[in-house]
Amino acid sequence: MEKREELYIGKAKSVFSTDDPDHYVMVFRNDTSAFDGKKKAQLDRKGMVNNKFNAFIMQKLMAAGIPCHFEKVLSDNESLVKRLQMLPLECVVRNIAAGSICRRYGVQEGLELNPPTFEFFLKSDPLGDPMVNEHHIISFGWATPAQIERMKELTFQINTILKPLFLSGDMLLVDYKLEFGVVVDKNGNGELVLGDEFSPDGCRIWDKNTREKLDKDRFRQDLGNVVESYEEIGRRIGVKFD
Ligand code: TMP
Ligand code: ASP
Repeated sequence: MEKREELYIGKAKSVFSTDDPDHYVMVFRNDTSAFDGKKKAQLDRKGMVNNKFNAFIMQKLMAAGIPCHFEKVLSDNESLVKRLQMLPLECVVRNIAAGSICRRYGVQEGLELNPPTFEFFLKSDPLGDPMVNEHHIISFGWATPAQIERMKELTFQINTILKPLFLSGDMLLVDYKLEFGVVVDKNGNGELVLGDEFSPDGCRIWDKNTREKLDKDRFRQDLGNVVESYEEIGRRIGVKFD
């Protein structure tokens, strides 16, 4: 597999084309950002930690029948993935209130959401990732009604797989963000699959007993030991980092 052109430079990852038109290489960089890119830093080893964390989670999800773009780990900070046409949406499931939902609706952080709630956001840093509803998505053509239903179905299914996984390491999966894309075939349509990544950069995970924040809120709120904490989450669920 030959890595070729850098096609996309995100805030924490880059995507490269390869000699195979159906596959890309996803590179996890040490760059860390929050608040739509307004806060930035370089964190040693974060690329490696997130690459291995993501591979572990994607393999768990695929073993449980969730279609994912992940193929295999190529190096410490690179993975091979299927080429997707990404939908410009972020799917968030929340088991416990934290972050923007507390600010928006004036609810206390830590409130249990039963049943878990779901939100769509438009992926746009210049607009600050605004929350959007299903009518917006259809009217603006960001996804079809069938894709909306499938994204919700898969995102909730993933909750039933990952909540117990984190609980087995005495952790609470507070919320998480997923992005989906389509494996486009010759006719321009195809299967909806989970793309992007699942790492402590895009979810909230608390220690079950102390409620200590172990995820990217450590970076957002200057709590320190960001990468060490990501590794601690990984170790508790069986991720191997060396
Ligand atoms: P929020 O509380 O800021 O709306 O975020 C909810 C969860 O989704 C949290 O775990 C962070 C994650 N998230 C991202 O990783 N990137 C994003 O652009 C957004 C909107 C949320
Ligand atoms: N909105 C997310 C955060 O606050 C992602 C980002 O802006 O980079 O971390």
